[in-house]
Amino acid sequence: MALSLWTRLPILVFIAMAAMQPGSVAADEDPLQDFCVMGQQLHVNGFSCKDPAQVQASDFASSVLQNPGNTSNALGVAVTPANVLTFRGLNTQGISAARIDFAPNGLKAPHFHPRAAEILFLAQGTLLVGFVTSTPDNKLFAQTINAGELFIFPRGLVHFQLNVGDCKALAFSAFNSQNQGTSHVADALFASNPPINDAVLEKALQLSAEDVQRLRSLISKT
Ligand SMILES: *[C@@H]1O[C@H](CO)[C@@H](O)[C@H](O)[C@H]1NC(C)=O
Repeated sequence: MALSLWTRLPILVFIAMAAMQPGSVAADEDPLQDFCVMGQQLHVNGFSCKDPAQVQASDFASSVLQNPGNTSNALGVAVTPANVLTFRGLNTQGISAARIDFAPNGLKAPHFHPRAAEILFLAQGTLLVGFVTSTPDNKLFAQTINAGELFIFPRGLVHFQLNVGDCKALAFSAFNSQNQGTSHVADALFASNPPINDAVLEKALQLSAEDVQRLRSLISKT
């Protein structure tokens, strides 16, 4: 039995509204043309487009992930991004990538991406990876993964990657945003510019004034 339009209308409106909920948009907005290679620095939501007549095949190719990053730093990790800022053809495509090199014991410290989920492919080595769900559960999902395996970090959740193997590790990640953004938890708290008021950190983390100074100085060195 076919439903009349008036019976179906509320259902259609409900479906349309559900589709418009911000939470149901899984990636950057859909492109309205085939491509929009990043042009001038004018920001709309993303970047303006290069004149299509000037676009070349090379605008859609990139070698930024070709070489290992320099892991000679306090955390023993190097992230090389292939996002819209380093690979202009990604503009409006809702996708980007990164290469992550780990020295032995190297750590990608707890951080989150405000605009994207991350799928990590481990090409070489062994990593302990994990993420924590939002409050109030704060549930940790952590796992050791080996070369050839994938792990997904949901959008906006704090996560980390630690090299627990005996040698270097190499991972490639993909993001469902042309510009996923990264916020490191320790940096946000102890290396902000200007610094967060001491009273906020002392109370929030139950630290002494000396602890706050010590953490600021330690975190600023990583
Ligand atoms: C890697 O970084 C370290 C520390 O900044 C630096 O001394 C070294 O020259 C760099 N190595 C290469 C190959 O760039």
